[in-house]
Amino acid sequence: MQWKTLALALLVEYAFGQGRMPMMRFQCSQLVVDRLDPLVNPGSVPSPHLHQIVGGNSFNASMDPAKHDLPTASTCTTCTFSEDFSNYWTAVLYFRARNGTFKRVPQIPSEGLKGSGGITVYYIAPTNKQSNVTAFKPGFRMLVGDALAKSPGAARKVCHRCMPASGDKSNINCGSPDAQTLPKEMCAGGIRSVITFPTCWDGKNLDSPDHESHITYATGSKANDVGPTGNCPTTHPVVIPQVMYEVMWDTRPFNSKDLWPVDGSQPFVWSTGDRNGYSQHGDYVFGWKDDTLQRAMNARCDGDTCKELKIQTAEEAMKCTKTRVVKEDIDGWLTTLPGNTMLF
Ligand SMILES: *[C@@H]1O[C@H](CO)[C@@H](O)[C@H](O)[C@H]1NC(C)=O
Ligand SMILES: *[C@@H]1O[C@H](CO)[C@@H](O)[C@H](O)[C@H]1NC(C)=O
Ligand SMILES: *[C@@H]1O[C@H](CO)[C@@H](O)[C@H](O)[C@H]1NC(C)=O
Repeated sequence: MQWKTLALALLVEYAFGQGRMPMMRFQCSQLVVDRLDPLVNPGSVPSPHLHQIVGGNSFNASMDPAKHDLPTASTCTTCTFSEDFSNYWTAVLYFRARNGTFKRVPQIPSEGLKGSGGITVYYIAPTNKQSNVTAFKPGFRMLVGDALAKSPGAARKVCHRCMPASGDKSNINCGSPDAQTLPKEMCAGGIRSVITFPTCWDGKNLDSPDHESHITYATGSKANDVGPTGNCPTTHPVVIPQVMYEVMWDTRPFNSKDLWPVDGSQPFVWSTGDRNGYSQHGDYVFGWKDDTLQRAMNARCDGDTCKELKIQTAEEAMKCTKTRVVKEDIDGWLTTLPGNTMLF
């Protein structure tokens, strides 16, 4: 119901405007879980912390933007839209047992979608059909969130929702009751992590040293805004699609009082070492074939079908996987987080 509920909420919200906001929403199954980060730590094998990566199978540790053309270097993708060879990645969640060992939290696809683990990806166009939206160019990359964050702030569009057993208890992404902190209570339907990217681009730089300065949120945008408003500052005048990630963590196997810490704290920790929740982050490397994304945006495609685009089944998408490069145990009861990442 989550998708339908969100759609309904937007319908209500925009009923007085131009109609429901068009948003592509589709599943990208897991490509690999690996300790690599070609955006923030290009060439480092391993990178500091573990990520789950989805999308095109040309993903690797270096991905030199001048040379690495994702659509030609990839032979498959884990995404529903089979011309999308982009890569998307985030930190992964661990459970910390009373004896101090860590166990990776399994994943489930978002409601209404199929796949193996992975990330639900959104591309949201402006509601107004006359408004232009400029798809990303080859070589475009961006980052949201800060893997070292110890307090709220820059990561205001990165949040968690404590999911009810079924259905969605609220429609607003990253507005209340969602929180930047990990939920303090047991969540009957798992924990959803949402990462919302900016909608304004400087129109010149495909990337920037911090992977963020070339993009910015619209003027006056709030945590729970969905979709480009067109209200871009003069420094970043170009309206880009709003990319949003939704990642579902199946914390239900750990929903037991005798597994949770005796001091009443919550037991989950991001692979960054973060027990609070501020450090979740999303990395994006654009890799749609030719002008497919622009066409889909112009057509205001919605959901996970689009007459402009080729699609593949979840079964086909799940066949696309990569072998892990960094050989280490990530799935046992681990005495330290991968990379010996310190808790904070
Ligand atoms: C990554 O892929 C590119 C393009 O296929 C290749 O040239 C490069 O050597 C690869 N780098 C690594 C570290 O595997
Ligand atoms: C630590 O606790 C977990 C969860 O209760 C258990 O499965 C695991 O075997 C324990 N490990 C050790 C070394 O006691
Ligand atoms: C959208 O783009 C077209 C073609 O570049 C241009 O003619 C038009 O003025 C633009 N519309 C807006 C609202 O900026």
